[in-house]
Amino acid sequence: MSVSGEIRAEALQKRFGDFVAVEDVSFSVSPGEVVGFLGPNGAGKSTTLRMLTGVFPPTSGRCSISGYDVVSQAIAARTQLGYLPERTALYTDMTVERYLRFVGEMKRIPSATLSRAIGAAMAATAIADRARRLIGTLSKGYRQRVGIAQALMGDPAVLILDEPTSGLDPGQAAEIRVLIRGLADARRTVVLSSHILPEVESICSRVIILAQGRVVAVDEPSRLEERLRPHRQVVVRALGEAAALEAVVRAVAGVIALEGGIEADGTVRLLVGFAHRTDIRREIAAAVVGGGFGLIELEPVVMTLEEIFLTLVGRPDGVREGV
Ligand SMILES: Nc1ncnc2c1ncn2[C@@H]1O[C@H](COP(=O)(O)OP(=O)(O)O)[C@@H](O)[C@H]1O
Ligand SMILES: [Mg+2]
Repeated sequence: MSVSGEIRAEALQKRFGDFVAVEDVSFSVSPGEVVGFLGPNGAGKSTTLRMLTGVFPPTSGRCSISGYDVVSQAIAARTQLGYLPERTALYTDMTVERYLRFVGEMKRIPSATLSRAIGAAMAATAIADRARRLIGTLSKGYRQRVGIAQALMGDPAVLILDEPTSGLDPGQAAEIRVLIRGLADARRTVVLSSHILPEVESICSRVIILAQGRVVAVDEPSRLEERLRPHRQVVVRALGEAAALEAVVRAVAGVIALEGGIEADGTVRLLVGFAHRTDIRREIAAAVVGGGFGLIELEPVVMTLEEIFLTLVGRPDGVREGV
């Protein structure tokens, strides 16, 4: 039975000669989900996405889009898909509108509905005011929007975006994230890849972590951190006597771990742990200030991608050796 917007991958493997780029990757994505592939360079993210989009077939294993097998029902599968490759070959000497028309013709969108499809894709990516600009004259952020607009042509049930914010400045990247979040709905599925943990955390409801060609973890971003860390942590920096400050913080209900130290500038630095799904930051701040200490900083400790990989695969970057 075919379910629009569903993705299934079973035991995908991809070899390039003797080199195994992707090994035994299985997952499924439900309609309307936003799933992120997270992993360091060389993890196999792009290779996996290329198998899903039919750029090349898997060496073994199978995958389907909306129930259509990507290899044996390639044409049907492709009509379900919009794809933003890692490096998009945009036609820089075409206007935005002309380029989208060209893409629509390639995707065999009937001419009677083509103008409407172009208008919808430009509206969804907020580029209608650039319709008559040459693509070559646009900023990187706008070019990436054009890339997403071409993926949206034909209103596909599944959008696959390979590193959609790579090469953009922080402001442009933030705009693209907002845009992507808006594209997923009950019917449209979004799969994207990234090597930036906060990006995946902010957009995706589920994250699939790839390292060395294999899936090493699948979970909601927040639960992933829960599994990998014994508790939540904040850093408190304050002025005052270290032992007295520690005693005050230790007395706050909910504190389950405490490490202290004195910084080079003489301020006291405490690493305070409390249970996941609880939040006692206000109580900690109140206790420090109420105890007469000068509170300088109270900052959450977020797990970096390096720490996650270290915990999951025992190497800071999850990169395999000898490649
Ligand atoms: N066409 C290819 N020929 C040979 N090796 C490849 C090819 N494409 C990718 N690889 C290798 O496969 C591994 C995974 O690459 P890729 O999927 O691009 O990783 P990612 O997108 O996670 O950075 C890398 O070691 C890369 O060098
Ligand atoms: Mg890649």
